[in-house]
Amino acid sequence: MSNKVRKAVFPAAGLGTRFLPATKSSPKEMLPLVDKPLIQYSVEEAVASGIESILIITGRDKAAIENHFDISFELEEVLKEKGKIEMFDLVRSISDIAQISYTRQKQALGLGHAIYQAKDFAGSEPFAVLLADDIVDAEKPALLQMIEVFEKYDAPVIATMQVEGEAISRFGVIDAEEIEPNVFRIRDMVEKPAFAEAPSDLAIIGRYIFTPDIFAAIEQTSPGSGGEIQITDAMRLLLKDRPFYAVKLDGKRHDAGDKLGFLIATVEFALKREDLGYDFREYLKSLKLDSQQTMHN
Ligand code: UTP
Repeated sequence: MSNKVRKAVFPAAGLGTRFLPATKSSPKEMLPLVDKPLIQYSVEEAVASGIESILIITGRDKAAIENHFDISFELEEVLKEKGKIEMFDLVRSISDIAQISYTRQKQALGLGHAIYQAKDFAGSEPFAVLLADDIVDAEKPALLQMIEVFEKYDAPVIATMQVEGEAISRFGVIDAEEIEPNVFRIRDMVEKPAFAEAPSDLAIIGRYIFTPDIFAAIEQTSPGSGGEIQITDAMRLLLKDRPFYAVKLDGKRHDAGDKLGFLIATVEFALKREDLGYDFREYLKSLKLDSQQTMHN
């Protein structure tokens, strides 16, 4: 079996309840950070990490995602007619980005169940999983950082980051031993532990590299909280039989599936933009914010 990671899976069939009502009829993966949908950031990350083939697991409202990565004849014609060549190139480049296919998760039965839909796509190869609402702003693409560790140790790799204080209870958390700087061998993992019971301050974030044995582990995983098949439970099963690693990512992670996290990411990305950064910074400076007040005007 080759240990080259060529394939990536994007589960995008969740209900996005934390972002209602925006996610009532459109997937949260299409929320724009400044002017680009979340999912495009992570598709670009995957391609920059050497991924050649992508499977997006969609749910009820898949049309917007499919259309985004498809050719838009009408729009392209109008842009050409109007001589807007830069815009034309921008729009066309999105449909050329990678080989993308789609499959449907008929019911939102959890992340483990969503990943299971990629069984045929993965075949006998290792594959990456990227959750598009976890945006990792990094110089070296986050997935590439993980692929290097995967290729070195030839075993599954998950992404982790340090989370201070009680916020750790909102994540899956690993119990692990650091075997080289920022690379950990995992002993155990637990989903959303109470603060006092968290085995470390290392949270699992939305990037994984799996080997095909994850599918048998998912088959053996019974539904957990909310009737959902949790990927953490399947990973714990596998952990009994084989080594599993974590990489502490070099970069900044934003939870863009959460309203506050999304706002923070938007501000940070906008400030970095050459075309917007200066004016936006001037605007923010003009706000003279008072921590006690909500603005009314
Ligand atoms: P989340 O835990 O963020 O759940 O899923 P969610 O439903 O998308 O959002 P909230 O918490 O209700 O606001 C993590 C990832 O797993 C996918 C989601 O699309 C997201 O990328 N997922 C989750 C599925 O594809 N199917 C599922 O059944 C559950």
